[in-house]
Amino acid sequence: MSQRTLVLLKPDAVQRGLAGEIISRIERKAGWRFAAMELRTFDRATLEQHYAEHVGRPFYEPLLEFMTSGPSIALIVEGENVIPGIRALAGATDPLQAGPGTIRGDFATITRENLIHASDSPESAEREIKIFFPGHA
Ligand code: TYD
Ligand code: MG
Repeated sequence: MSQRTLVLLKPDAVQRGLAGEIISRIERKAGWRFAAMELRTFDRATLEQHYAEHVGRPFYEPLLEFMTSGPSIALIVEGENVIPGIRALAGATDPLQAGPGTIRGDFATITRENLIHASDSPESAEREIKIFFPGHA
């Protein structure tokens, strides 16, 4: 099924010079294409919308602090099964649980700085695309 998803390469990915590696892993998957891509330092209001489901969790404030700490890259990716597909490429939220060969498993060590966000369902994707790319909603 053709889908679209919202991907964020988080500030650690850009700062560590891993954006190209991560984009390349996505780009090489058959039948996927980039519909939008933008380098931007997110403001708190944008991230409050994006991470609304996590308000009040102990990691919420440090997460927002980290996510506003420098530029990220936001993308819309389209293609066959791209929503579960990029979640699989990313690996588990906790990099220690993420398998080898996944982005988080290969390059990350702590949950907060886990390099990539990818929408977890069609409903999340549509909601998140509206937040980061209102022109593509
Ligand atoms: P979550 O939506 O659970 O994970 P995912 O990014 O895999 O969808 O959490 C959102 C982000 O919050 C996660 O990528 C990193 C951060 N986070 C923490 O810092 N500590 C935690 O214990 C959890 C669950 C998440
Ligand atoms: Mg999530």
